[in-house]
Amino acid sequence: MSTLSSEADLSTAVAGVKLKHVLMNASGVLGALPEHVTRLANYGLAAVVTKTFTKRPREGYGPPIILRLENIGFLNAVGLANPGVGAVPQVVRRGKELGLPIMVSVGGSTVEEYVEVASVSADAGADLLELNLSCPHTMGYGLDVGSDPSNVFEVTKAVASVSKVPVVAKLGLSDNYIKSAGKALEAGAKALTLINTIRAMVIDVYSLRPVLSNVFGGLSGPPLHPIAVKVVYDVYREFSPEIIGVGGVTNWVTAAELVLAGAKAIQVGSALSSNDPRELIRSILGGLSEWVKGLEYVRLTDLVGLAHRK
Ligand SMILES: Cc1cc2nc3c(=O)[nH]c(=O)nc-3n(C[C@H](O)[C@H](O)[C@H](O)COP(=O)(O)O)c2cc1C
Repeated sequence: MSTLSSEADLSTAVAGVKLKHVLMNASGVLGALPEHVTRLANYGLAAVVTKTFTKRPREGYGPPIILRLENIGFLNAVGLANPGVGAVPQVVRRGKELGLPIMVSVGGSTVEEYVEVASVSADAGADLLELNLSCPHTMGYGLDVGSDPSNVFEVTKAVASVSKVPVVAKLGLSDNYIKSAGKALEAGAKALTLINTIRAMVIDVYSLRPVLSNVFGGLSGPPLHPIAVKVVYDVYREFSPEIIGVGGVTNWVTAAELVLAGAKAIQVGSALSSNDPRELIRSILGGLSEWVKGLEYVRLTDLVGLAHRK
């Protein structure tokens, strides 16, 4: 087939799950309710990722929980607010009705909780499980797990050894991210999602207090992007695993950089808050297709990790 006249092939697969193209949403940006799944499907994504579910419902923190930083990105400390694992089956069912692969984001404050949320999600028909090992602002639920490679191993092993559904480990920026990535893979993760938000804070100079009720939060959007590119690049260089790249993707160029660093799928989070998310997804896909054709490649996946070529 000529690559000049037709669209480039943007299809991919993550842990054996085929995707019609490389874009999915990032966890937490919608995805806690069935109607969110419908909205995300309407944006034209190839798969839907749920909000992180925990065993019990969590109300999260009191307001303010999210700040839009002008021309920069977002700072959030939502506190993993979610309706609890009981809501997972109906969210998964909506994904199935819409014919979209669905990845359930799994959280927990103990290994047993991760295993329980994972089993309910697998029984409900989830196509993939994404272990959130990297929430930066909820103690006992994230980065304090993911920055310790032995915790990463323990949680991933416990879930992967009982799960019939492929496990994807989501990690963030920590001193140990390469070791944690290695331990997740050793424990049975079939892919890695890199990266979660990074701890940051804003202070109100009139009230003289931190703005977020939680004092600090997780930074997302454009400032995260070059950091995500480096983490993906470093982990790909070390292990060449299947990687879902996430962090500050706002257009096709930022998505393409993550592909070249080593990502075979891409998540879009903060940028979905744009006025027209459907058009955003369409334009990222269009740009990627033109880019692949312009380079005279056929498939986007042929470009995965090419920035590592000597
Ligand atoms: C409001 C908000 C809520 C989030 N909630 C979750 C969550 O529940 N679980 C998770 O793994 N990541 C969560 N994230 C992190 C995103 O999935 C993603 O890793 C991060 O925002 C970087 O991508 P972006 O720059 O495209 O937003 C959240 C991000 C935002 C902005």
